[in-house]
Amino acid sequence: MRRFAWAVKDAWRLVAIVGVVLGGAALILVFIKDAMQPWRRFSAEPMTVVPTLTGKPERCLTCHFGIEEISPAHPTRAFGCVVCHGGNALALSKPRAHKGLLGKRNPATLEVQEKTCGKEGCHVRSDNPSRSPSASVPLTLMATKASEIAKAAFALGWQKDELARFGVSPAREALGLIPEIREKRMLAASSLAPFRPEDNPQKTRFVKNCLSFCHLHTGHDLKNTDARHLSGCAACHVPFRPSGRYLGKDKAIKKNEAGHAPYHKMTTAISYTACNACHNQGVHSLRLEFFYRADIPRPAITDPNADRWKAYYIPQAQFARCEVELECIDCHTRTEVMGDGHLTGNKDALQRVRCKTCHGTKTSLPALRTLASGADEAFWVVRSYRRGFPALKLGDRIGITDANEPLPHLREKNGQVILHSKAHEKRWRVPLATHSRCAQEEKKQRSQDCYPCHDASRHRRQEGRFAR
Ligand code: HEC
Ligand code: HEC
Ligand code: HEC
Ligand code: HEC
Ligand code: HEC
Ligand code: HEC
Ligand code: HEC
Repeated sequence: MRRFAWAVKDAWRLVAIVGVVLGGAALILVFIKDAMQPWRRFSAEPMTVVPTLTGKPERCLTCHFGIEEISPAHPTRAFGCVVCHGGNALALSKPRAHKGLLGKRNPATLEVQEKTCGKEGCHVRSDNPSRSPSASVPLTLMATKASEIAKAAFALGWQKDELARFGVSPAREALGLIPEIREKRMLAASSLAPFRPEDNPQKTRFVKNCLSFCHLHTGHDLKNTDARHLSGCAACHVPFRPSGRYLGKDKAIKKNEAGHAPYHKMTTAISYTACNACHNQGVHSLRLEFFYRADIPRPAITDPNADRWKAYYIPQAQFARCEVELECIDCHTRTEVMGDGHLTGNKDALQRVRCKTCHGTKTSLPALRTLASGADEAFWVVRSYRRGFPALKLGDRIGITDANEPLPHLREKNGQVILHSKAHEKRWRVPLATHSRCAQEEKKQRSQDCYPCHDASRHRRQEGRFAR
């Protein structure tokens, strides 16, 4: 009997011990599993944001802890991440969170931007095509290369005129334009078919050497460099550096590889370096080759602090001194770079700024407009300019382009014209041709008409033929 009693006692003891061991193991397992949560590498706790625009909780920041706010116009507390990137808001593992991510690293590629930047009410407004960059940018030459294709096709006998019929991507005139105006102004058919090489070896060469890069569809593989060349809206709006390294504070983004913008930032204060990632890279030859500039090191994607005079203009090109000293966007307007909603087939279609826009002519001052109402377009345009941009007020006199677009950064006061840079804090007094010793002819106002006397390019300066 005693033996039996002992045996029962032992059995209970055993059960208790096994229980404790199992329980402990389970606890340890739970702990290990928790510690192995992929997000633990980045944050101590899941981090939830409820963006005020959507009201739906998101946990992306759990892993992307420390990421920069993309821009003051898109604060994280209002926008969160998913409006722009898609993805699975609550998931806490990378594959699940990233399911349905739009555009991978760049949600602003032309392929996806309609679903991200171009949501109705964001950068598309069906009631106002000129305020709809998402709709207008894909119709510009920077996206289609329609003019380059048409010119080459004409020169090489593939077509009989210079009417633009093809693009690197298909595009369609959305707003409808009466044919005479279209022919005159756009020199484009009402839609562009994608340019296909078919079986023609010359066309294949053209596509490979001349159409595969330097437009808004190219993505981030800029030939011969490991730096990142962004595509779509980000090509202009996201600043980048030659190294292609991410320098920001997001813990998840790799720091030791190329192919990243330096920070998770967008801006409208666009440096000339963004424009020069495509412009001024080199020249095409009629033998359908592209020659990168030999006079500057590759990658030619540059630092905003680089010396523009030394490095960033194609040696053969002509330009006035201000074309190198000012930022591209100090002269070129939003419509010139982002389009007006119509399909363009020729550079002239969107040309709005002229030399006389700032300098006036021999006999007349630059065209100006007095701001008479708060509803003036200028107040809308200026809202997206850099922080600290001098405020506009009723009664101010500002410049306007040939197409009556306001230039809130060009202001006249007491006969002096001042230009405030859109990209940084500089300002200049604009020298006027009006009543000056300038020897121009009143009727000849294209830049080519000014360069014979005002070409400031290197060879002119070397020849000592540049007056200033
Ligand atoms: C479990 C952690 C985790 C979560 C949650 C997470 N991410 Fe990521 N994400 C990462 C890591 C790690 C990388 C870097 C990937 C690499 O370099 O291979 C990354 C990269 C990205 C990229 C760049 C895409 C690429 O292919 O490199 C985007 C965009 C992104 N995440 C957006 C989001 C959004 C939006 C959410 C929320 C819906 C989210 N992430 C949630 C871990 C996470
Ligand atoms: C207004 C739109 C917008 C919002 C909101 C936004 N992003 Fe982005 N994001 C972009 C754009 C444009 C890029 C491409 C430029 C770049 O690489 O920095 C990008 C790039 C990224 C990348 C890839 C960076 C790289 O170099 O690999 C990650 C990761 C990312 N975003 C995460 C987030 C997270 C997390 C949030 C929320 C806190 C967020 N984004 C909010 C527009 C946005
Ligand atoms: C070729 C360069 C370039 C590209 C590509 C580009 N932008 Fe812009 N964007 C600019 C410049 C330059 C400005 C500043 C305009 C000014 O100074 O008035 C600007 C201004 C803006 C503004 C503020 C003014 C406004 O219209 O509300 C928005 C919003 C904008 N861009 C959205 C976009 C979107 C969305 C895309 C892609 C579909 C895009 N941009 C593509 C150059 C570009
Ligand atoms: C992704 C490449 C790319 C970037 C970035 C880019 N451009 Fe362009 N741009 C082009 C191409 C391609 C053309 C068409 C050239 C042609 O047909 O001769 C063009 C044409 C133009 C034109 C004349 C036609 C038009 O549509 O107005 C202007 C002006 C211009 N670019 C200014 C700019 C400015 C300013 C910036 C920077 C804010 C910029 N570009 C950034 C590729 C680019
Ligand atoms: C000082 C003002 C100014 C600056 C700065 C400027 N441009 Fe221009 N640009 C003009 C004017 C004015 C025209 C129209 C010329 C004409 O009337 O013939 C023009 C024309 C153009 C054209 C189309 C004409 C052609 O034949 O190529 C392109 C492309 C262009 N600019 C790109 C740029 C880029 C890229 C930058 C920056 C690297 C830049 N511009 C800087 C004033 C400027
Ligand atoms: C957006 C306004 C703007 C446009 C457009 C513009 N300029 Fe200028 N220009 C300036 C400013 C500002 C200065 C003064 C720069 C300085 O003081 O360093 C200047 C200076 C000049 C000067 C005198 C300085 C010198 O030493 O040469 C000439 C000549 C000139 N520009 C010619 C042109 C020509 C030619 C064009 C057309 C291709 C043009 N500008 C387009 C703003 C403009
Ligand atoms: C036949 C030669 C010639 C042509 C063509 C010409 N200019 Fe001039 N320009 C001059 C001379 C000479 C001066 C005076 C230089 C001086 O005072 O040192 C001058 C001065 C200027 C100035 C500076 C005025 C000042 O106070 O510093 C501007 C701005 C200017 N020109 C703009 C233009 C523009 C824009 C065009 C094209 C529409 C043009 N010029 C065409 C010869 C020319």
